[in-house]
Amino acid sequence: MGFGPSDFAHSLSRRADRRSALGLISEVRAFEFQFDCDARRIHDQRIGTRRKGTRGIPRFVSSAILWLILLTPASASATYHPGDPVRGQRTFRFCAFCHSLKPGEIRAGPSLAGLFGRGAGSMEGFNYSRSLKNSSVIWNERTLDAWLANPRKFIPGNRMSFRGFKSPEIRANVIVYLKQATRTADQ
Ligand code: HEC
Repeated sequence: MGFGPSDFAHSLSRRADRRSALGLISEVRAFEFQFDCDARRIHDQRIGTRRKGTRGIPRFVSSAILWLILLTPASASATYHPGDPVRGQRTFRFCAFCHSLKPGEIRAGPSLAGLFGRGAGSMEGFNYSRSLKNSSVIWNERTLDAWLANPRKFIPGNRMSFRGFKSPEIRANVIVYLKQATRTADQ
C-alpha cells in the first residue's frame, strides 16, 4: 500500500493535529463515496448506457485532491483558517458537476448565479422539488451553512443528492467562495 494519507495523519506529532487531519480524511472520503455514486448515476443517464465499473472521477484525481488538502500546512494544524475562498473553490469543483455559475445554465442542478439574497427554488426554468420551492428560505451565509451541513434535514424532501459536510471549516470555505463567485453584474 505504501505511505497513504492516514499514515501521514498518524505521523503528526501533536494530538490535535492528528485528530483534525483524520477528521478531514474521513470527510473527504465520505464526500468521494457519495460523489462517486452520483457521478456514476449522472454519467449513465447522460450516456444512456450502463457500463460496468465506470467511475465518475478517476481514483488518482480524487486522491491527488486529498493529498493537496493534506499537504497544505494549515489543514493539519489546529490553526485552520476558516472561510478560505481558495480552498472553497477547490471544494466547489465537486458541486460544479451539478451547478454552473453562469446565469441560467442548468446541469443536474440549477445555476447558482445571483444566489445570495435570492429565494430557494427561484431560478427560472429549473424544475425544482416542491419542498425547495415552498420552503420560503432566502439564501445567505446562515441558511447556506444549514443547507450544506445537512440538506435533507434543513429542507426535507428536496432532490439534491448530497449528504452534507460535517466540517464547519469546509462549509465556511465554500460559502465564502460562493459569495464572490455567484455575484452577478447587477449585484
Ligand atoms: C448530484 C448533483 C448535485 C451536487 C453534487 C450538488 N448539488 Fe446542489 N442541488 C442539486 C439539485 C438537483 C438541486 C435542486 C434540489 C431540489 O429541487 O429539491 C440543488 C440545489 C442547490 C441549492 C439551492 C438552489 C436554489 O436555486 O434554490 C444550492 C444553494 C446548492 N444546491 C448548493 C450546492 C453546493 C454548494 C454543492 C457542493 C457542496 C452542491 N449543491 C452539490 C444537485 C446537486
